[in-house]
Amino acid sequence: METTARPARDQWGSKLAFILAASGSAVGLGNIWGFPTVASANGGAAFVIVYLLAVALIGAPVMLAEFVIGRRTERNPVGAFKALAPGSAWVVVGALGVLAGVMILSFYSVIAGWTLAYIVKAATGEFTAGADTAAIFNSVAGSPGAAIGWHLAFMSLTVLVVIGGVRGGIERWTKILMPALVVILLLLVARAVTLTGAGPGLEFYLRPDFSRIDVGVVLAAIGQAFFSLSLGMGAMITYGSYMTKDDDLETSAGWVVLFDTSIALMAGLIIFPTLFHAGLEPGAGGPGMVFVVLTSLLSTIPPEPWGGTVFGLLFFLLLMVAALTSSISLLEVATAWLVDDKGVSRKKASIGVAALAFLIGIPSALANGAVPWLSSLPGIGMDFLSFLFMVFGQYALVVGALLISVFTGWVWGVRAAAAEVRSNDGKFSLEATWSFLIRFLCPVAIVSLLVYLLWQQLAS
Ligand code: PHE
Repeated sequence: METTARPARDQWGSKLAFILAASGSAVGLGNIWGFPTVASANGGAAFVIVYLLAVALIGAPVMLAEFVIGRRTERNPVGAFKALAPGSAWVVVGALGVLAGVMILSFYSVIAGWTLAYIVKAATGEFTAGADTAAIFNSVAGSPGAAIGWHLAFMSLTVLVVIGGVRGGIERWTKILMPALVVILLLLVARAVTLTGAGPGLEFYLRPDFSRIDVGVVLAAIGQAFFSLSLGMGAMITYGSYMTKDDDLETSAGWVVLFDTSIALMAGLIIFPTLFHAGLEPGAGGPGMVFVVLTSLLSTIPPEPWGGTVFGLLFFLLLMVAALTSSISLLEVATAWLVDDKGVSRKKASIGVAALAFLIGIPSALANGAVPWLSSLPGIGMDFLSFLFMVFGQYALVVGALLISVFTGWVWGVRAAAAEVRSNDGKFSLEATWSFLIRFLCPVAIVSLLVYLLWQQLAS
């Protein structure tokens, strides 16, 4: 790879700063909204077990691979593949990542817009005993004006941070607010598990019924693992590209995976007991389920009427910030590509990409009650937002991660990659395990799943 002079790039301030920023990208709606939503649609505890295996055996190695590619090349995903495999078709992986980033951002901002609306609802005291949880959700997601307006508001916030650049924008936020999020989640867990009727919810979440595991569940688990860890579309390549040469890639990947997974597990401990307490049906309710369930939890927090208001405000504010530290990484991939490779200014690039993602997001904003056919797509039966989540938030990331593992394991090669991992302190303790997983387990597992699903489709 050539290392001729390039304009100095932003870098993270310290090792902790990198771990925080990467965790900021990973921890977001994927943990608190996505994980419980996908788990409840896939049978609960059985899904959770497959998910944990997918994170450890497939997610973690791919995370390390993305960090390595990023730091080695100091490029956005498109430029990174160009640098490591000049003139080859591998650049398509980077391009797929740029596309997936924009598409995911489009619906991500819609859901994050709901959290903005819920901050206002908390502040105006709507989360009190007897709150009509479904009506509250419907007043946001079911109203075209509100849904699109909040989507626009959140997208604008995202752009403002990205224009500030990597260090100024991303680092400052994450350091203070992530620990605060953990504290409030722990308090909500304590409230949720002590609700009457929490028992069956905990059982659904923690006692696996292995007969529920099928290929669909496994694919959902792998897809959710990639989405939650921000993998498969180059976000972690881009973040890795801002790492310094003395950052430790191996331990950084370990911490981010551990942190992200713990937060998802906590979210499950909050959602499932409450879901059963409120007498709702797991698997029903779609993208709004988590919001409805959270409202019923908040409305049980004493003392009346302040408990729900104070906790609601804190919780949705922190959730919004967690979503923001993720959405900036979604926007950053396309922005970094336009800035690095196309010579566009950071400001123009981020505004342009965000405007595009905003427009693409409009049908998703209308897909939860506002427009009937978008809320249940003819012939598919799914709402448009869930459909985009499946295609770009799951399938595209699975394919992207597959290509990244094949590239790292076989094309660029585990030796060259390992040399980069070792470059700071000479150590790479899990080298043999990682090489095996990235060369064999990740590609074989993903390809066989995809082939099986395709074959099932053709057979039916
Ligand atoms: N990981 C983020 C979340 O859990 C979403 C995301 C996916 C961010 C892919 C970047 C890339 O909310």
